[in-house]
Amino acid sequence: MEVLNSIEKVRYMVNMWKKEGLTVGFVPTMGYLHEGHKSLIEKAINENDKVVVSIFVNPIQFGPKEDLSNYPKDLKSDMKLCEAEGVDIIFNPENKAMYFDDFSTYIDINELGEELCGKSRPIHFRGVCTVVAKLFNIIPANKAYFGEKDAQQLAIIKRIVRDLNFDIEIIGCSIIRETDGLAKSSRNSYLSKEERKAAVILFKSLEKAKDILNNGEKNSEVIRKVIIDNIEKEILAKIDYVQVVDSLSMRVVDKIEKSILVAIAVKIGKTRLIDNFTFEV
Ligand code: PAF
Repeated sequence: MEVLNSIEKVRYMVNMWKKEGLTVGFVPTMGYLHEGHKSLIEKAINENDKVVVSIFVNPIQFGPKEDLSNYPKDLKSDMKLCEAEGVDIIFNPENKAMYFDDFSTYIDINELGEELCGKSRPIHFRGVCTVVAKLFNIIPANKAYFGEKDAQQLAIIKRIVRDLNFDIEIIGCSIIRETDGLAKSSRNSYLSKEERKAAVILFKSLEKAKDILNNGEKNSEVIRKVIIDNIEKEILAKIDYVQVVDSLSMRVVDKIEKSILVAIAVKIGKTRLIDNFTFEV
């Protein structure tokens, strides 16, 4: 496995593999890899001849009051995980290689980025879309792998690939959970022991909502209320949003008639966690 920070070098390697007729899978990450990332990497390894993992904490997707400066990092352990999985290249560029001082081109997404995380993190998806487009240009892979935990991000990336004609297939991968149901996330490492216990409320309240949907509930307000009431029982939890949206447009729905995404963001102490599930009618 090679760890490259040069844009030219990684692009050269990927183009060379493709000329040889090999398929290339790409897993974009911000590092501090966990079981969730591991499952994306495993899928990429199974479906491709070569796999590139990028590790880059993208500054332009963090708002001024967010956790950019203390975002967790552990390149050594990331390298160990990637090596063990059989990754061919880790692309770990420096900030200055990705963003010139006078960097001025951004990709904006309208409708899909307005609800859910877009409301409380107004510049987030512009930053994600821009870096993902850059990474797709640097690493011209056949397939790229993203987790369904970031369901809105996944929907947005599928849309920019379609709208801007990127020649890459986007593969969504299921949420990986701890044994008590908490969705795996690099941000779980911020939680104190007490907060970690409290964090399971996200999963538990979504499970309650799922039961009600399975019993035929069609009113999204009823679903929201069940989740909100449950989360509010947890003293350490503070709701950012609880929303029921159309799973393609990410628009809020009142009546549950098509495929929906039930998505939540909750602060446990200072740590903002997200979780979701999709429900097919
Ligand atoms: O999901 C993430 O880790 C990031 O948003 C991504 C897609 C790597 C872009 O920085």
